[in-house]
Amino acid sequence: MGFKVGLLGLGTVGTGTVDIMLHPEQRHPLVGQLELHRVGVRSLDKPRQVAVPTDILTTDLEAIVTSPEVDIVVELIGGLEPARSLILKAIAHGKHVVTANKAVIARYGDEIFTAAEKAGVYVLLEAAVGGGIPVIEPLKQSLSANRIQSILGIINGTTNYILTRMTQEGGDFAEILADAQQLGYAEADPTADVDGLDAADKIAILASLAFGGRVKRSEVYCEGIRRVSAADIAYAEKLGFAIKLLAIAKRDDDAPALLDKFQQADHLQIRVHPTLVPKSHPLASVNQVYNAILIEGDPVGEVMFFGPGAGAGPTASAVVSDILNIAAILTVDRAGPSSDRKPLDPLLACAHQHYCTLAPMDDLVTRFYARLITHDYPGVIGQLGTCFGQHQVSLESVVQTDVKGDRAEIVVVTHDVREGNMNQALEEIRGFDAVEEVASVLRVL
Ligand code: HSE
Repeated sequence: MGFKVGLLGLGTVGTGTVDIMLHPEQRHPLVGQLELHRVGVRSLDKPRQVAVPTDILTTDLEAIVTSPEVDIVVELIGGLEPARSLILKAIAHGKHVVTANKAVIARYGDEIFTAAEKAGVYVLLEAAVGGGIPVIEPLKQSLSANRIQSILGIINGTTNYILTRMTQEGGDFAEILADAQQLGYAEADPTADVDGLDAADKIAILASLAFGGRVKRSEVYCEGIRRVSAADIAYAEKLGFAIKLLAIAKRDDDAPALLDKFQQADHLQIRVHPTLVPKSHPLASVNQVYNAILIEGDPVGEVMFFGPGAGAGPTASAVVSDILNIAAILTVDRAGPSSDRKPLDPLLACAHQHYCTLAPMDDLVTRFYARLITHDYPGVIGQLGTCFGQHQVSLESVVQTDVKGDRAEIVVVTHDVREGNMNQALEEIRGFDAVEEVASVLRVL
């Protein structure tokens, strides 16, 4: 007896998923036991790039998630609704669920996993983060003996592509974005990618798995790449850095000492922002649409996952691996004595209930890069240095590189400082007569 799959959505990833299922040769033998039972689509008339038998296509997605015949529902329609409701309905009808939907999981994970636990079904989501890169299952299983300390990731391919081209061509954000849209590397509405929302969804999911607690997506600090300029990229390059959109999740070592050690373990910093990454760092050379996730754990040390973060084939590879995980469990269940309810594999299911607390950004301690446009008066650098000093901001370097007429461009890089102190210093600096503009402020890894 095979495993009946009800697929919701036949877009790029759905098409890749069907393609694997229809061509099981030389893959794991379980692939041959997957049976594409129904495929839910928006329109029956649309030409398809994969040979799906037309009699299994339907526009009635509810009928798929409630069908007594379906074992596994694969949600690949994306977006919040109706995806969330269909996932919940599938769970309520006892279906295992595989999804690539990071937005739904990051926002409604509590509701979905609570329902799944109650119903005794799995909700697997390898494809939601890093496309074809295995990272969810390694966090759940292969790295589960570790105390995870940090996750640093380039987990949005669109922004990595844009930043790579800005670096290689010296182009401005708007012009490269327009070209990326023409070439199909960026969506017509690029908001979720370029404003960092997609990466924030993904790091919320990774942090939740790595640190064993729920994360409120709305509390994740998120800053995109729209304000990164060609000038910043050029200065960063001269200073020995690449600019990358990093998603970062860490245990917060600076958590107030009054928290006991168990509370401290659940006190995290989670953030997404463009970051100056030293060129010697392994993430600095991850370019184009590639993704990479660097995980540090005790005792494993640093492990890096690298690969294609999107696309039909890579993402479908992750989707089908989740389907196979469920099929493998069902194989064992079906071979054993029948019982109404089998316990869930604790390494594959998600059972944490409590929420992690996130550190306010003002308390973050990091290095900063700032570019200021000033008048070229005597004493301006001294004035800036004094102000930074008064706010406990110690400077690592100050460079005045570009003087045009009476205008100067001054770039400072700080030592580690508290973000709140840096912001106070900049606030004061913005009010100086000699300062025309604080043109950009970026964090440094
Ligand atoms: N839009 C995502 C990216 C791919 O650019 O990485 C899907 O997660």
